[in-house]
Amino acid sequence: MPFQFLTTRRDGPIEYLTLNRPDVRNAFNETVIQELTAWAEAMVDDEGVRVAVLAGAGPAFCAGADLTWMTRMAAYTQAENVRDATAAAKMYSLIDRLPIALIGRIHGAALGGGAGLAAICDIVVAEDRTAFGFTEVKLGILPAIVSPYVLAKIGASAARELFLTGMRFDAARAKEIGLVHAVVSADRLDQRVADYVKEILSAAPEAIATAKELLKKVAERPVQDTIGLTADTIAARRVSPEGQEGMRAFLEKRKASWNVLPDPDR
Ligand code: COA
Repeated sequence: MPFQFLTTRRDGPIEYLTLNRPDVRNAFNETVIQELTAWAEAMVDDEGVRVAVLAGAGPAFCAGADLTWMTRMAAYTQAENVRDATAAAKMYSLIDRLPIALIGRIHGAALGGGAGLAAICDIVVAEDRTAFGFTEVKLGILPAIVSPYVLAKIGASAARELFLTGMRFDAARAKEIGLVHAVVSADRLDQRVADYVKEILSAAPEAIATAKELLKKVAERPVQDTIGLTADTIAARRVSPEGQEGMRAFLEKRKASWNVLPDPDR
């Protein structure tokens, strides 16, 4: 798929997606939003892909919304502004709901909507020197579109502190609040991402998709309303061809059919 500001590379079932606007630290404007939306739509329909890795080209992962573009919005009508913001909100929602695992490979800086992108990744590996921040209030705006995803990851307490101050924070803090899962030095970043990719490739694709969907549904309802949902979900999975294959493979001491890793990585 030809993109102006994204590069993609496919390695078997692994899709590598790189934000590629390094001159402005991969800040996103309407074209980047359109391209990310098109990419995510293609991923939903792509049966060959099992995991995607999201990274940024150049010195930083992503500096959030393009501030040159945002300042131009003063000349837009209210309806045009809402249309643009809605397109961005739909993009985050679509990526958040991808039926495959999305791994964030974060380095340099992840600020504003860039930190929001980290929040919609299932697994985030960050270089130890990365600067994080929901810096919007420092600019007189706020992290509205990413707020549902960030809140779900870091909780209300950290969100209040970080949304209201706009302060920058380091990778260790990002891990402490649940925005990041692993913090490593720059030279170990790709290996740590590859380790997570292997874990995903040895797990069953439909089970992963179902788990991701279930987590969202469960989060949306009171615990007492989850019994039917959780019971139905596991009941269907147990008898599914994939569930049967996975459990039999374990008992027969062999690799499951979906596991494309060489034996030592099983
Ligand atoms: N929108 C538009 N342009 C941006 C940008 C953004 N969000 N972030 C950086 N840029 C531009 C800079 O204006 C600069 O342009 P120039 O070369 O024409 O001067 C270029 O990208 C490089 O930025 P610079 O600050 O020199 O790079 P750096 O590597 O020293 O620092 C950041 C990178 C990301 C830490 C820093 O640019 C930054 O803090 N950006 C603002 C991020 C932010 O608050 N985002 C929230 C948006 S809602």
